[in-house]
Amino acid sequence: MATTSHQYTLRLFVLSCALVGSVLCKDLQADTYHTIEVSSLLPSASCKHSATKGDAKASSLKVVHKFGPCASLRRLGPSIKQPTHADILREDQSRVNWINSRLTSKVASVVGPNQVGQSDVNIPAKSGSTVGSGNYVVTVGLGTPKRELSLIFDTGSDLTWTQCKPCVKYCYEQKEPIFDSKASTSYGNISCTSSACSQLSSATGNNPGCSSSACVYGIQYGDTSYSVGFFGKEKLTLTPTDTFDNFMFGCGQNNRGLFGGAAGLLGLGRDKLSIVEQTATMYGRYFSYCLPSSPSKTGHLTFGKGTSAGTLKFTPLSTISEGASFYGITIQGISVGGKKLSIPASTFSNVPGIIDSGTVITRLPPTAYTALRNAFRQLMTKYPTAPALSILDTCYDFSNYSSVFIPEVGFSFSGAVEVNLDRTGTMYTASTSQVCLAFAANSDDTDVLIYGNVQQQTFEVVYDVGAMKLGFAPKGCA
Ligand SMILES: *[C@@H]1O[C@H](CO)[C@@H](O)[C@H](O)[C@H]1NC(C)=O
Ligand SMILES: *[C@@H]1O[C@H](CO)[C@@H](O)[C@H](O)[C@H]1NC(C)=O
Repeated sequence: MATTSHQYTLRLFVLSCALVGSVLCKDLQADTYHTIEVSSLLPSASCKHSATKGDAKASSLKVVHKFGPCASLRRLGPSIKQPTHADILREDQSRVNWINSRLTSKVASVVGPNQVGQSDVNIPAKSGSTVGSGNYVVTVGLGTPKRELSLIFDTGSDLTWTQCKPCVKYCYEQKEPIFDSKASTSYGNISCTSSACSQLSSATGNNPGCSSSACVYGIQYGDTSYSVGFFGKEKLTLTPTDTFDNFMFGCGQNNRGLFGGAAGLLGLGRDKLSIVEQTATMYGRYFSYCLPSSPSKTGHLTFGKGTSAGTLKFTPLSTISEGASFYGITIQGISVGGKKLSIPASTFSNVPGIIDSGTVITRLPPTAYTALRNAFRQLMTKYPTAPALSILDTCYDFSNYSSVFIPEVGFSFSGAVEVNLDRTGTMYTASTSQVCLAFAANSDDTDVLIYGNVQQQTFEVVYDVGAMKLGFAPKGCA
């Protein structure tokens, strides 16, 4: 019943606005809302493929959610479990801790060659626990003959790696057969004395090791997620026409972690070893992606400059000192329900900000988060509240509603770029009786601000790294 009365209030309001005329209505029509069908908050059980935009100049890969019906990674054995929402949010906090530790710590100690096969991997833990490495997966081809591998793509790290036979120490369960470098005619080890091997220090945060002249890498995403193995070269196939010989990647012999059945990771960071740099002559350090609004839909990851840049708005990208892999951005303000919040400018200018494909929930300085949450709560008083969900403290019970009105949330980025989040970019849905504001506060006003992937959903997000700018366009995918 409540639904109907709300709808009536709004309809009457809009109607009276139309009658009164636009000048007065500017004052009257204070708040802007998204109307959301409550049933649409839950992903459907089957995959609905979105059409990928054809573009002659660019190469697109389909993006799917790691645990959604489009990935089919989850229909594996008992070791790959669908995580609970509390698990996802706990992993997300671990990723945030890992990002903060990377911004404050120097290169760690050497990866010993014996770590390829030893049980105790001594890559030093930096500040903390496990880490979620992102939720979105693309499929690429590796080797000759080509093998298809589903990799998590991650703008917050650089090294691309996949699990490799013979899995000297350990490989976790994955969807596709494990890559066998011996069965590929194009694989080669990279030598310990090469400059590419030394580059691992900045790309992974660990100095490389050496095993009978083969370069050994180690990368850790927290205490329990890591990959250690041989640093090799291989033919990479992104699309049938776009192939790269001697692509440098990690051939993982000892791998553990929460990769959810994916074969490894695709590193889209800013270091020389990232795929963005390794393919620079072909794509000019230009890539874009669209993350779908739901795990039951697909998005895309596109390399190279497309032609459809009409609606893009660009904000400058910056380099973060001590965290050169990350894509730095500057947020200047937040609006809720169409009204700009009064947050002191220093709240944003005092901390570095990054955009990250692997962090789920946007992390804000506590001062900014509190202002956002309070304004949001004020506009949501008509709905019954629900218990907090892990790091999310503002949740609602919509189980008695068929549709709800959610205040619009918008961000201003430097360069006068205003981004009004999509209707799916504001809330995190555990169930219709627990739908939460998808933002969280950092523990400290000095922690890095992270613009996370819920907020990026359905936007075409363009990384023009050559020109050091980041573009947003709405409606990049469904
Ligand atoms: C790469 O180096 C490792 C360690 O020395 C060795 O076991 C493996 O056979 C080498 N692979 C190739 C293709 O040379
Ligand atoms: C939903 O409606 C039922 C029946 O009117 C009521 O008992 C229940 O408390 C309502 N739940 C919420 C969360 O408002």
